[in-house]
Amino acid sequence: MRGGLIGCGFFARNHLAAWRDLGVEMVLCDRALDRAEALAREFGAKAVYRDAAAMFAAERLDFVDIATTVESHRPLVEMCAAAGLPTICQKPFALDLADGRAMVAAARAAGVPLLVHENFRWQAPMQAMAGLLQDGAIGRPAFARISFRHGFDIYANQPYLATEPRLALVDVGVHVLDLARFFLGDVTRLYCRTQRLNPRVAGEDAATLVLDHASGAVSTVEISFFAKLDPDPFPQTLVRIEGDTGTLEVSPGYRLAVTTGGQTSVRSVDPPVPAWGERPWHLIQDSVIAIQRHWLDCLRNGREPAPSGADNLRTLELVFAAYDSAARGEAVTISGAAA
Ligand SMILES: NC(=O)c1ccc[n+]([C@@H]2O[C@H](COP(=O)([O-])OP(=O)(O)OC[C@H]3O[C@@H](n4cnc5c(N)ncnc54)[C@H](O)[C@@H]3O)[C@@H](O)[C@H]2O)c1
Repeated sequence: MRGGLIGCGFFARNHLAAWRDLGVEMVLCDRALDRAEALAREFGAKAVYRDAAAMFAAERLDFVDIATTVESHRPLVEMCAAAGLPTICQKPFALDLADGRAMVAAARAAGVPLLVHENFRWQAPMQAMAGLLQDGAIGRPAFARISFRHGFDIYANQPYLATEPRLALVDVGVHVLDLARFFLGDVTRLYCRTQRLNPRVAGEDAATLVLDHASGAVSTVEISFFAKLDPDPFPQTLVRIEGDTGTLEVSPGYRLAVTTGGQTSVRSVDPPVPAWGERPWHLIQDSVIAIQRHWLDCLRNGREPAPSGADNLRTLELVFAAYDSAARGEAVTISGAAA
């Protein structure tokens, strides 16, 4: 397999290390050519380009991996579709549903798979919980609490976040709302409150949501980038799911508790630290390997990747509905027509 990576910034290093682990050869593109050159030296990439069109013209690629920020996603995904290339696109997929729908339509018309790099559901603790749910370990889920609260300085590595007018819901809301759908299925109604707590940032850095799921289950989703916690669980998402015969709970330190019949068993769901990785980032680094391995499996076997662009439109609809709810101070009905 040979892929083309577009965008050689902060997060791209994780993609490249994972592709190297998975035996995939990559060529690189960044409009800031020095960034592509630096990563090419580090990862032994054979070619670098300033422009995606030039890369497509010169290379025979099996797929493209887009690791740029959101404003470039639509033109790049449409270029990939026009070139008939299977595409991975980083989150957030789009800043409005029109762009999201256009990308899904372009990939569909070209008959190429489109994966949104939504790696939280591929984190080891989340996969373990999903497996237990699927096996019926706690019966029918009725309630979930999904919490991503921390005080880590995310602005040091991603300075652009401090000036985003829409912050927590667009940056991490997409991840945790994808988890809510992953565990409990589609959402019919939501209520959201947002807060701007850190005076240094432009957008909301905390959000609290209540979701009604089509299954009848209810979930709460919480995000804060300004919580003073000890221990600070960053970058862990803490999840509790209560079913009619038991409860699953992931707590700090990668402790997964399964309670059924009045008994609790506890096991560690601490992911392995990749040879190129380090704590506490190993949770994310391992999930990048997992989602990229899933992509290769889908390409080789002609399967739909998860989450596909079409699936991710339903998560984006929740993000935009959350802003709407917060602005109006009211619960918002989800049409489900996004995809
Ligand atoms: N899934 C995760 O866990 C996770 C974590 C961090 C960041 N991200 C996402 O990854 C994306 C990238 O984030 P980052 O922090 O690496 O950003 P960054 O700004 O550090 O890097 C983006 C790079 O893309 C390049 N670029 C932009 N448009 C381009 C174009 N049209 N052609 C070629 N190059 C182009 C820029 O020059 C830059 O080098 C964001 O959407 C972010 O939300 C995801």
